Parts: sequence; C-alpha cells; structure tokens
Amino acid sequence: MTMADIVSGATADAIALDNTYAAHNYSPLPVVASHARGAWITDVEGRRYLDCLAAYSAVNFGHHNDEIVATAHRQLDAVTLVSRAFHSDQLGPFCAALAGLCGKDMVLPMNSGAEAVESGLKVARKWGADVKGVPAGMANIIVADNNFHGRTISIVSFSSDTTARGGFGPFTPGFRSVPFGNAEAVAAAIDDNTVAVLIEPIQGEAGIIVPPDDYLPRLRQVCTQRNVLLIADEIQSGLARTGHTFACDHWGVVPDVYLLGKALGGGVVPLSAVVADRDILGVLHPGEHGSTFGGNPLAAAIGSTVVDILQRGEFQSRSAELGLHLHARLRSLIGRGVLAVRGMGLWAGADIDPRLGTGKELSLALAEHGVLVKDTHGSTLRFAPPLVITSDEIDWAVKQFAYVLAEAG
Ligand SMILES: Cc1ncc(COP(=O)(O)O)c(C=O)c1O
Repeated sequence: MTMADIVSGATADAIALDNTYAAHNYSPLPVVASHARGAWITDVEGRRYLDCLAAYSAVNFGHHNDEIVATAHRQLDAVTLVSRAFHSDQLGPFCAALAGLCGKDMVLPMNSGAEAVESGLKVARKWGADVKGVPAGMANIIVADNNFHGRTISIVSFSSDTTARGGFGPFTPGFRSVPFGNAEAVAAAIDDNTVAVLIEPIQGEAGIIVPPDDYLPRLRQVCTQRNVLLIADEIQSGLARTGHTFACDHWGVVPDVYLLGKALGGGVVPLSAVVADRDILGVLHPGEHGSTFGGNPLAAAIGSTVVDILQRGEFQSRSAELGLHLHARLRSLIGRGVLAVRGMGLWAGADIDPRLGTGKELSLALAEHGVLVKDTHGSTLRFAPPLVITSDEIDWAVKQFAYVLAEAG
C-alpha cells in the first residue's frame, strides 16, 4: 500500500463513500477489506494483510472458520429469526452448552457486548433489590478506573475516557470508580447498598493491563464476604484469547457473573450473553428485559458450535503456546523502539517510544508492511491475531514491526 493507492482507485472510492455516508465515529486505517480467510485479510486491490487485531477478539477462531461457517449455512436454510415470542429448537441447546462451559445454571442471550454489560448491570440491580434487600433506587456498583465496557449512556457514565463522555451527559448515577488492580480500594468503596463489582480481568482497551496476581482472588474473597456480585467482563479477554477459556481462570477465580460477547458469535453474527446461577439470573421475569434478536436461532446455532470448539480446548492451548512465542519475540524489540510488552496468551500490548511517532502513525506504517494492528492510548500497539495464526506468521509480523521501528528511528 502506498499513499498513491489511498488517494486513487478502488480503495479511495470505498473510503470516499464511507466518509460521506457513514458516521465518523471511528478513525480506520486506509485498508478496505473484501475477503478474509484464517488470519489473513485481502483488500479491494488484492493486497493481503496479516490480521493482528481479529476484530477486537471477535474473530478468535479465524476468518471463515469452516466449522462455524458450515453451521451458519445450515441454519440459514432452516430458520434464522422467530424472536423470543416463540421458542426455537436452537436456544435451549445453546444456553445449556454455554452454561455448562461456564459452570453456571443459566444464560441470558443478547447481541452486542455493550448489551451484555447493560444487561448484567440490570440483573445486578434487580438482584440487589429482590435478594439482597437494597432499598429502591439506592444500589451502587463499583467499577475500575480506565475501564472499557462499551459505549451506551449508562456505560460511559462510569468511563474515565473524556472523549467517550464529552457531550453525552446527563449520566446514569450509581457507580463508583476505584483504581484497577487495587482490591483494597474496592473493599473500602463497598457499602451496604453495593450490589456488584464489575471488572475486566485484564483491561483491554486501556492497553492490555494485567493486574497483580492477588487482585482477582482478593476481589473474589471481598465480594463473597460482603454479599456483592463479582461480575467479570470477559467480552474481549474470554473464549481462549489469553490461553484459558476465561482470563479469570489464570487466577483460579470464578466470578458470580460472566459477561461474554465478541468471539461467542464466531466472527459471523453479534452474540453476547450474561451467564450466572439461577439465584441471580432467576430475578428476571417476563417483560423486565429483552431484545428482538437476542438468542435468535442463527446466533444460537453458531454459539453452540463455538462452545463445542471451546470444549475441545485446542484454541486455549494454541493461544497459551503461541502467546509465549509472541511475547518473547516482541520483548526482543525492547530497547529497539519498544519500551514495554504486556499481556497474556495471544494478546499483547507493546508500548512504543513516543519519539518514533504516534501509535496511529506506526499502525499505518505496519499496514504498509502487510500487518494490521490497532493503536490504543496514543503509543500502545495491540497485537491480538486470530488464534489460528502460526508461529512462522508471528515471526513474520514481528519482523515487519522491527523494520517499521527501524525506519521510524
Ligand atoms: C471488555 C469489553 N466489554 C464490552 C465491550 C463492548 O462490546 P461491543 O463493542 O460489542 O458493544 C468491549 C468492546 O471492545 C470490550 O472490550
């Protein structure tokens, strides 16, 4: 890709249409995808790129995963949507399988990740009112500074990101934010009306921030002692990304509520879920919550196949093994333009020396070398490839990164 391609030809035409008719709520790289298989994306000019973002972990099992696509085709020819006004033969099996994977009793299926978070917050407040006995309208939920849980009004109400909040008030009350990684700050913030602690086990958008080893175990202890729900947003960290089914597994912690999304839909459909035991999800009654597409037969069938894949464990092992390789290769660039590398499994954040350019500039340079990554927080580059990536492809991607750093230096 050269700058000439960006201002002319099929790439330029596609970008011009986007820029004219699509709201400018993203700032994409000038790459126009038209086809993808495995870990590779082909653009409208026929150029191939190694996808090291995997749609923010929604494509964990690879683009056009054969097993998932076969399920989608089968279900497209059967029935795709009946809404929840009727039953479908796909919903029960999906919920049973996902509940089993999580070791929980029940599933509330939704669509986007933000919807799963919103739904989890509603369930926690209802649990507080019906089970814990918190007075009406008094519930509070503890969250972590620099969280990312989505973009709805309630979710940005407890975001520390000024861009996500600017101009969108008034905000939803009832949230308290404390530093991430500090369980004692959570303990100190809990009072009699606290219904939940909501955290990402590893903060993704904040720059792949891994907490201290005692953080999650201590949160688990505090939440149990104080009768507060521990809600783990595993929408980006879960479903094999970090080398385990859930990031919480690294610390042997089982939250009360899992929030899942992204890869649950196999990179084919939006599918998210709140997963918990009956004494928690059982607080919802007809009419109190819902979504027209939530749990539709197409998504449920795909979700069942995703759970089957995860039950086999092959992607968890791949992510663990290849993750070690990715981290070692990225760490070899420390002192050569990289300041620090963080993460787990095939999920790495590399902090770049800001003197070499912004994260966005380096992402653009990497795209020119055939590797797609995403910057976050100015000078962190995030590597989160589909888990089908090979060791050789990782070597190749890191080599391109080394060239880009050398060129920028
Ligand atoms: C941890 C986490 N929670 C929630 C979301 C929101 O998901 P969605 O974009 O599907 O609404 C994201 C998206 O990046 C996320 O990373």
